[in-house]
Amino acid sequence: MIPLMELTRQYKSLQGQLDEAALKVLHSGKYILGDEVVRFEQEFADYCGVKYAVGVGNGTDALVLALLAAGVGPGDEVITCAMSFFATAEAIAVVGATPVFVDCTKETYVIDANAVEARITERTKAILPVHLYGQCADMDQINEIARRRRLYVIEDCAQAAGAEYKGRRAGSMGDMGCVSFFPTKNLGCAGDGGMIVTDHEELYRLCQAYRVHGSGENGLLAYGKKKGIAMEPGSVNFHGNLPKYYNFVIGHNSRLDAIQAALLRVKLPHLNGWNHRRRQIAKRYDESITNPLVKKPVCGGFGSHIYYVFVVAVEDRDGFRAFMKSHEIATGVYFPVPLHLQKVFEDLGYQPGDMPNAEYLAEHGVAIPMFPELSEEEIAKVINCVNAWEE
Ligand SMILES: Cc1ncc(COP(=O)(O)O)c(C=O)c1O
Repeated sequence: MIPLMELTRQYKSLQGQLDEAALKVLHSGKYILGDEVVRFEQEFADYCGVKYAVGVGNGTDALVLALLAAGVGPGDEVITCAMSFFATAEAIAVVGATPVFVDCTKETYVIDANAVEARITERTKAILPVHLYGQCADMDQINEIARRRRLYVIEDCAQAAGAEYKGRRAGSMGDMGCVSFFPTKNLGCAGDGGMIVTDHEELYRLCQAYRVHGSGENGLLAYGKKKGIAMEPGSVNFHGNLPKYYNFVIGHNSRLDAIQAALLRVKLPHLNGWNHRRRQIAKRYDESITNPLVKKPVCGGFGSHIYYVFVVAVEDRDGFRAFMKSHEIATGVYFPVPLHLQKVFEDLGYQPGDMPNAEYLAEHGVAIPMFPELSEEEIAKVINCVNAWEE
């Protein structure tokens, strides 16, 4: 079977270094945060071209903590894309805000930036574009709207570590960028992991507070922010000291493990090479898949797509998937239910037909194998099978 994604090939290609890095952490006795995490945060911030990074438990928490740092809470609205993994909308709901959905474009599958402004109300606090499937949303347009309407921009880069938009890295364009290191991601660890990247010192410190129960100096800063007063050790409003276990806001427990940071430090120098290889495979698919029944994804031309997944669209998806499976080729669906039609959001009142492009993708989109270690033989077999399919 040619898998959709396969993780052991990459592990084997770096096995010596990865094993050594993991063992070093085991022997160190320091397992959460610590030096490995601090180093990886700096390396990843440099890679993204931003000043700060905060290592957290997973990509979902990265979104939750970023929203908290932006002060998003009950009564607020956050505009996001109707086609994404559930966590995008879940994070908005978890902080008590309401997700407001916008369709994706028909061609590129990222949020339709032209449709964002019409959805802004006086309750809108942030725009949360998703760089879906590894391609950046139109960030210039989104940032321009956000600046004019005084909104935060939080990029969901879970599927886009290393993607670029007009020469800038995913995560570096909004106020904060949220990354997932889930094992299948372009930069994946051996468990759950995530990161918030930002250029803003205050947002950085607030994210640090929210990842450790709202305690410490940064927790105090978060408290002051909520109350609208200056609250820092030494400020006019606070003369106390800050012993351990004093908490100032309700936060989370969401920290990156040292072992994951150590593994990610080994992998990060290879990320550009892996993403380059994914683009080569995508180019082969694009040039050689000629079956008129198969609609190929379109690259928006804003920068480099990193093809977390390669999603084509076919009318008879079940038939296509069964045909591929009969030839020992795995396929996947990202994602079968658009966010506005998820049962949990039924009270928001969306109806089928509201987001035609997201709904089309949910019904007809299908991913074919994509990972850097695919062999030439496997790529050729996928192409031949896709071209041989007929309804
Ligand atoms: C678009 C998107 N956002 C958020 C997440 C959440 O990341 P994690 O699984 O690390 O919590 C994912 C993960 O699959 C994702 O694809």
